[in-house]
Amino acid sequence: MADQPSGGARPQVVVTRRVPQQVLDRLAAEADLRVWEEPLPIPRDVLIAWLPGCDGLYCLLTDPIDGDVLDAAGSSLRVVSQMAVGYDNVDVPACTARGIPVGNTPGVLTETTADLAVALMLATARRLVEAAEFVKAGKWETWRPMELTGYDVAGSTVGIIGFGRIGKAVARRLRGFGCHLLYSDHSPDPDAGKLGAAFVDLDALLEASDFVTLHVPLSGETEGLIGADELAMMKSTAVLINTARGPVIDQAALLDALRAGEIAAVGLDVTDPEPIPTAHPLLSLPNVVVLPHIGSASIQTRTRMASMAADNLLAGLRGERLPNCVNPEVYES
Ligand code: DGY
Repeated sequence: MADQPSGGARPQVVVTRRVPQQVLDRLAAEADLRVWEEPLPIPRDVLIAWLPGCDGLYCLLTDPIDGDVLDAAGSSLRVVSQMAVGYDNVDVPACTARGIPVGNTPGVLTETTADLAVALMLATARRLVEAAEFVKAGKWETWRPMELTGYDVAGSTVGIIGFGRIGKAVARRLRGFGCHLLYSDHSPDPDAGKLGAAFVDLDALLEASDFVTLHVPLSGETEGLIGADELAMMKSTAVLINTARGPVIDQAALLDALRAGEIAAVGLDVTDPEPIPTAHPLLSLPNVVVLPHIGSASIQTRTRMASMAADNLLAGLRGERLPNCVNPEVYES
């Protein structure tokens, strides 16, 4: 573990974005805060300038936290608390090597993100964005039998890649749609039977599914998991949904596959990079729905995430074990 403070001085904390006031108030009751108030992420050089002597860092998924950033903070840094369940922006081994526990916010956003995944599946399959634009553009002249027709989610085969908390929450919802559920993961899951989901390998899932939905964290193992070969295995009528992390899909390969008609449509809540440039060719395709990483964006859930990240940060400042720690091995030495 990193050193504990020697005197009675108030801990110094950097918060990389304005979070709900009640959360800032809780933090401010125990620490002196320096909050980045601007609408865009804190620039790296500013973060590095703010960190020396800091005891705690409250950060977001838009902040790359690597060894150089940690070195800028120096030995005073005792906790890094990320306001997200995913933490691919944080170099966790570098934190562990310095004895710094890293907190995240698992569980609290599961249902909200699963809602969004199913909403995006329906929106993409039933062409909701295109249809709404059609009305606004004055193109709705009459009811035509085959106009704006899409694909049924009800009764379809859905392949869930990654059967963790969010993957299972998606499965629970889709049972209500009468979907035939397949999943792939490292190993079969004991909860799968009661969710009616069958364990298959990735290739079998890609070949059989009408919808493929991604629920894996981003890591060396999952980066580019869906590339040209995987897209070629999917049905030409298949719809791909990503609410996980953008780089899990090879975006150039995705563009090629859509242009070649290898798959029917894609719904992305995450892109690579984020934000996706407005001139990106994916955005000009009618069968692509892109959302700005809003999977967990309900007022209740984002407020709870902010509060949970504060719980982790305050525990770290007090020298207590973080309630949600991604590198518990720091407590073993
Ligand atoms: C997370 O918490 O990792 C999500 O992507 C934020 O919505």
